Amino acid sequence: MQVVVIGTGYVGLTAAACLAHLGHTVFGVDDDAQKIQALSAGRVPLYEPHLGELVQEGRGNGRLRFLSSLADALTGAEVALICVGTPIGAKGEADLSAVEKVARRLAEAATGPLLVVEKSTVPAQTGQWIARTLATTSKGAGVDLEVASNPEFQREGSAVSDFLHPDRLVFGVSSAQGEAQLRALYAPILERRINCPVHAQACPGAAPPVIVTDITTAELIKHAANSFLATKISFINLIADLCERLGADASAVAEGVGTDPRIGRANLQAGLGFGGSCFPKDLQAFVALAQQAGVDFNLLEEVSRINARRIDRAVEKLRQELWVLKDKEIALLGLAFKPETDDVRNAPALALAERLKAEGAVVRGYDPQAGPRAASATRAIAVVSDAYRVAENADALVLCTEWPDFAALDWSRIHKTMRRPLVLDGRNFIDRAKLEAFGFRVLRMGA
Ligand code: UGA
Repeated sequence: MQVVVIGTGYVGLTAAACLAHLGHTVFGVDDDAQKIQALSAGRVPLYEPHLGELVQEGRGNGRLRFLSSLADALTGAEVALICVGTPIGAKGEADLSAVEKVARRLAEAATGPLLVVEKSTVPAQTGQWIARTLATTSKGAGVDLEVASNPEFQREGSAVSDFLHPDRLVFGVSSAQGEAQLRALYAPILERRINCPVHAQACPGAAPPVIVTDITTAELIKHAANSFLATKISFINLIADLCERLGADASAVAEGVGTDPRIGRANLQAGLGFGGSCFPKDLQAFVALAQQAGVDFNLLEEVSRINARRIDRAVEKLRQELWVLKDKEIALLGLAFKPETDDVRNAPALALAERLKAEGAVVRGYDPQAGPRAASATRAIAVVSDAYRVAENADALVLCTEWPDFAALDWSRIHKTMRRPLVLDGRNFIDRAKLEAFGFRVLRMGA
C-alpha cells in the first residue's frame, strides 16, 4: 500500500519505519524542514532501539521517504495516518489544533479516495470532528475521504517491538471498506509474515486479536488503557507508602497480587512514579473529557496526585538519612522518564532534581542516552557523561530509572569514590544484597 504518515515524532516515525519494513511504500511528512532534512540524510533525531536500523533499511530500499509537502506525499496514497502531537490545553483538555490543521490540509490536498486514520491519542469523538472537517473542506466529487481510528499501544524504549508484536490491534471504523484497508495495512503482522529486527529472524507466535469497533469506542479504548495502566502504578505506590509504615515489602506485595491473572504483574512496579509524554497528559485529558460529558472521574485526579507525591517521598527519604540537604551532593542515575529512551518529558528525575536544588543540594546526573536533553530541559542538574564521575564525592546516589546498564556497574568502584555510601533505589530493581555486601546502605521505595 502507499501510506502517508503525518508527524515524525516518536509515534509517527516508528509507525512510518515499521510500515515500510512490512513492505508498504511510506512517506513521512513533517512541517519541521530541518527534521525532514535530517531524516532524509538518515539521521534519526531521537533514541529508540532498532528505529535507526529500520529507517536506514527503508531509505536504502526506497520504501521510506521523508517530505515537507503533504500534497506531493498524497499523490497515489491510499491511507494517511495522523500522528501529530496532542498537548495539554489551558484547562487540562487535549489541544487538538494540530489534528484539526492536518485534517483541513488533508482535505485540501487530497485528489483521490483516502482513509484518514487517527493514531495520535485523542479524546473520544475527535473522529467525528475530523470527518466533519474533511467533509466541509474537501474538493468534493471523486474525493472520498473516510475516517478511522487505530490507536497505538507502543511504549517508548520498546516501540518497534510493540509495533511489530502488538498485543492487539484496534480498528475503529465506519465501513467494511475501512476495516479491509486497515487489515491490508497490517496484513504481514496478522499473517505473521514479519522478519523482525528485534529478534533478528522470522517471528513465531500467534497473530494478535483484532478488535473492530466504531471510531468513538476505539478512541476511548486508548484513553482508558493508559488511564488504567497509570492507576495501577499509583495503586502500588500507595501500597508502597503503607508498606513503609507497617514494615512490609511493596515488591513482594506486587508479586503476590500480580500473579493473580485477573490483576497481572505489569505496571505494579513501585517507585518514583510515572512520567513521559503520555500518562500525565492523557490522565488530565481524560478527566477533562469525562467532565465535559458530565461524568465525575476524580478517581484519575487522585491517581495524578498520588504520582506527584512520589517525589516528596523520595526527598523525605533522603532527608531522613542526610538530615540537612543544603550543600549535600546528590548523584542521579537515569534522567529520562524511563530506561532505553532519551525522552525527558515529565521525567521524575528532573522533578526530583528541581526539588533537591530548591533545598540547596548540589545535583549531578548521568543517563546513557538522555544527558543532552536533560541538560537543555533543566538547570538543576550538572549533567556528566560518565556514571562513575556522577558518584564521585556524592552524599547519596539515586537510581531514577532501571537501565540494565546500572545494575552492571562496578559498584565496588562507586563505593570507594562516594563520600557517603548511600543508595536510594527509586525503581526497586537493583540487587540490594549485592550492594549491601559492598558496604552500601540501600533504601528502596516501599520497603
Ligand atoms: C505508555 C503506554 O504504556 C503505552 O501502551 C502507550 O502506547 C503510550 O503510553 C502512549 O500513549 O503513547 P510510555 O509512556 O512510553 O507508554 O511508557 P511506559 O512503559 O508505560 O511507562 C510510563 C511511566 O510509568 C514511566 O515513567 C515508567 O517508569 C512508569 N512506570 C511504569 C512505573 O512507575 N511503574 C510501573 O510498574 C510501570
